Amino acid sequence: MKPRRIEQTLLGYRLTSPVIVSSGFLTRNVELLQKAENHGAGGASIKSVSFSIATEVPRNFRPDVTVLPGGKSIVCPGDRRPTGPEIAGVIQEIKRQGTGMMIIGSAAGGGRDNQKWIETATKLEAAGADAIEFNASHPFVDVPPEVFMAPFPDRMAPAIRAVKEAINVPLIVKLTAVTADLGLLAQACEEAGADAITIMNALPAAPPIDIRNGVRPVSQTLENLTWTCLTGQAIFPVACYAVAHVSRKVSIPVIGCGGISSWMDVVKMIMWGASAVQICTAIHLQGFRTIDKINKGLERFMEEEGYSSIEDFRGLALKQILPQHEVKLKEDYWLTVREDRCNLCKRCLHIGQCLAISLHNDTIFIDNEKCLPCGTCIQVCPKEAIEVRPRASVRN
Ligand SMILES: Cc1cc2nc3c(=O)[nH]c(=O)nc-3n(C[C@H](O)[C@H](O)[C@H](O)COP(=O)(O)O)c2cc1C
Ligand code: SF4
Ligand code: SF4
Repeated sequence: MKPRRIEQTLLGYRLTSPVIVSSGFLTRNVELLQKAENHGAGGASIKSVSFSIATEVPRNFRPDVTVLPGGKSIVCPGDRRPTGPEIAGVIQEIKRQGTGMMIIGSAAGGGRDNQKWIETATKLEAAGADAIEFNASHPFVDVPPEVFMAPFPDRMAPAIRAVKEAINVPLIVKLTAVTADLGLLAQACEEAGADAITIMNALPAAPPIDIRNGVRPVSQTLENLTWTCLTGQAIFPVACYAVAHVSRKVSIPVIGCGGISSWMDVVKMIMWGASAVQICTAIHLQGFRTIDKINKGLERFMEEEGYSSIEDFRGLALKQILPQHEVKLKEDYWLTVREDRCNLCKRCLHIGQCLAISLHNDTIFIDNEKCLPCGTCIQVCPKEAIEVRPRASVRN
C-alpha cells in the first residue's frame, strides 16, 4: 500500500500520523489507548510514573478542570498519579495486543537521585516501551523537592546521561519552557545523550477564585485553593516559540506540544521545526475524533500544497524569522476604510492608543499622518473593512 503523506519517521519508528497523544489522563489505561489508535494516533506517551516514590500528586487527587472562556483552554492542577506497576501493566497489555502506535513510557519524579530515574526508565523499557520520555517538564507547581527536577542544565544533564546509559530504546526529554535559558537547556540535554526533545508542558497558573463568598475555589470539588496548570489553545503561541527556539539550537528531533487544537496548528508547529506533535487538552475537550480531523485536514493540506512528506515543510517558518532590529517595515502604505463593507459598528473608534480614527458624517475616517501604525484596527474590524494599500494608490 502507498504510504500516506502524513506518515513520519521518528527515532527509527514509523508513525502512521505525526500526532502523539501526550502523557496525562488520556493515556492512563488500555481502553483509552485503543481509542487513540482507532482514531488514528501515531503514538501515545503513557501517563508519567515513578517506580521509586509513592506519589507526586496524591493518589486520591481528581483532575479538577476549569474550562476558560472560549472553551479551548483549561486550568487543571493535575490528576491522580498511578503506580509504576499499574502503568507497566498498561504498556505490556497494549503491546501484547499488537498496537501499531509508538508507545512512549514517561518517567517522572526522580528528583536529584539518578538511581530513581534509572529504575523507572528501565522498568518502563522492560514493560515494552518503544522509547522513554524523561519528564522534566512539570510546571513547578508545588512539587516536593525530593521528586522535582529543576529545569537547569547542571541538574538535568547528569540524570539524562545516567538514564541514556541504562536503556536501549531512544530517550526523549520533555521540557518546560519556564526556565532561564531554554536554548542552553535543550543543548545540554542533547549533549547529555537525549535523542529527541518534547517541548512544552503546561504553564503554571493561579487557580480561578470566587471573589465573593470569602474567596473560595471556583472548583466544585476542591475544598481549598491550590496552584494549577494552564493548557490548551491559550498556550499555543508560547509553545510555537519554544519549539522554534529549541529547533534552532539542537539537531535532534523536536516534538511540539502545547495548545494544538486543529490541523492548522499541527502545520504551524511543523513549520516552526517540529518533527511530530503531542496533544492533550484538545482531545480532552473535543474527543479522540480530533485526531481523525487533524489527520484528514493535514493530508488534504499536503496534497493541495504539493508536499509529499512532513519534511517538505518542516521548519519553513524558521527560515523567515529575523531579530526584531532586522525587520523591515513596509513603507508608504496607508490605511483605508472600505465603505462598502463598514457597518459603522464603531469598534475601531475605541482603540485606546489610536488618535487617527474618527467618525465624520456617518463615515469612518483614518488620518494616516496620526497613525502609529499598530495594526489593531485591521484586526478588530469585524467586517474586514480596513485595508492596507500602497499610498500612491490611495486618493487623498
Ligand atoms: C490533567 C493533566 C495531566 C497531565 N499529566 C501529565 C503527565 O503525567 N506527564 C506529562 O508529561 N504531562 C502531563 N500533562 C501535560 C500534557 O501532556 C501536555 O504537555 C500539556 O497539557 C500541554 O499540551 P496541551 O495544550 O495539548 O494540553 C498533563 C496535562 C493535564 C491537563
Ligand atoms: S493602525 Fe493603529 S494607530 Fe493606525 S489607525 Fe489603526 S488602530 Fe489607529
Ligand atoms: S470596526 Fe470596521 S465595520 Fe466597525 S466601524 Fe470600524 S471600519 Fe466600520
